[in-house]
Amino acid sequence: MEEIFRIEGGHLLEGEVRVSGAKNATVALIPASILANGPVAIVGVPQIADVDNLADILKELNVKVTKVADDHLIIDPTQMKNTTLDSPAVTKLRASYYFMGALLGKYGYVKIKMPGGCYLGPRPIDLHLKGFEALGATVVYDKGCYTISADKLVGNKIFLDIASVGATINIMMAAVYASGRTIIENAAKEPEIIDIATLLNKMGAQVRGAGTNVITIDGTDNLMGCFHEIIPDRIEAGTFIIIAAAMAKKVRVTNIIPTHLEALLSKLDEMGVKMDVDVDSVTVYHSENLKPVDIKTAPYPGFATDLQQPLTSLMCKCNGQSSIKETIYPERFKHCVELQRMGADIDVRNGSALINGPISLFGDDVEATDLRCGASLIIAGLMADGQTRIHEIYHIDRGYANIDAKLRALGAHIDRVEIDG
Ligand code: EPU
Repeated sequence: MEEIFRIEGGHLLEGEVRVSGAKNATVALIPASILANGPVAIVGVPQIADVDNLADILKELNVKVTKVADDHLIIDPTQMKNTTLDSPAVTKLRASYYFMGALLGKYGYVKIKMPGGCYLGPRPIDLHLKGFEALGATVVYDKGCYTISADKLVGNKIFLDIASVGATINIMMAAVYASGRTIIENAAKEPEIIDIATLLNKMGAQVRGAGTNVITIDGTDNLMGCFHEIIPDRIEAGTFIIIAAAMAKKVRVTNIIPTHLEALLSKLDEMGVKMDVDVDSVTVYHSENLKPVDIKTAPYPGFATDLQQPLTSLMCKCNGQSSIKETIYPERFKHCVELQRMGADIDVRNGSALINGPISLFGDDVEATDLRCGASLIIAGLMADGQTRIHEIYHIDRGYANIDAKLRALGAHIDRVEIDG
């Protein structure tokens, strides 16, 4: 049996939807928790498959995970054992690589399988490894496993050739117990990085400068348990705002930090989407005659690569030619092939896409080849005439908490159904 989403398109949406905690913060906060020498309570945990997989990895490490409520975990690493991480859970998501920095930081040793995650073209981890080596670690890769070890980690100055989110977080985690000062230059500035630094500092770490391109970490001897609330998911928020721009009668998206979404909101404004932006919510009104726009993905605060796929579907509605230049993952265009099945007029070449509109999409059988492709297909399905059946929805469940239930509450005709595989 296979689970799919079945969507009956063309129904306008109305009501309020609350955004969950940020996936890309959560998947780093959970591994970061093991750096503490006491229990860490985290609230705002999204109900996504990536969290379940990370909880499985924690159990392998003999870390006690207590689910106090659906969105509230207590992670107690006091009885932790540093075992080899080579189970299937490790290869189900990319963020399992955060156990590299966390275990190396705590024990000076980690053995872990190559991480998995969405295929968006090549996703090397050379900068993470270069950072660990700069702190004094040795990296050995053998039969799909990395062994990273150090007698003693010592702070150093590390310049990242690319402002990588993952490398910045991994190096921060590896450096919290290192002796002396670590300085990460050309660090990534994403809001999720600030959230991880906030958690580490609540534990007693000394991380300064998160959110700027120079992060300083002064090593410490002991980190304590603490309480932490995760920031809202700016990509889920952006996805719902785009959905509303396409299909709202009137939709209010709540639990938002609008400054995290400025690049998207300014493009939607340019398109002519009618919105009210409040302190922690955005209300979107029925909008017609949308204008085409050009976007270029870039590290934060630029236009997020994770939102270019959802936006592509909305661009099909615009009057004229829109364009996307993808600078982070030049191959992140598999969703366009699926949208073409639904009638989209898109030309993909050399890391760019030209989207011609307005086009009336029609329902078809399509495949969520990765997480944000899945989001783009849900949007297209809601816009399309007739029925859309989205396959491989486990990709969507990895990163969007209860997206079908949230959409049904807004009046969308979307069902999760089992079919013969
Ligand atoms: N890169 C390298 N070497 C490295 C690391 C990165 O060349 O060692 C390159 C990548 O290939 C890419 C660029 O640097 O071209 C940026 O990659 P980054 O390391 O910043 O990405 P990531 O940490 O692997 C996170 C998110 C992604 C999001 C990117 C970019 C998590 C778990 N994942 O990935 O989220 O697209 O940052 O913002 O935080 C998603 O949520 O759908 C998703 C894929």
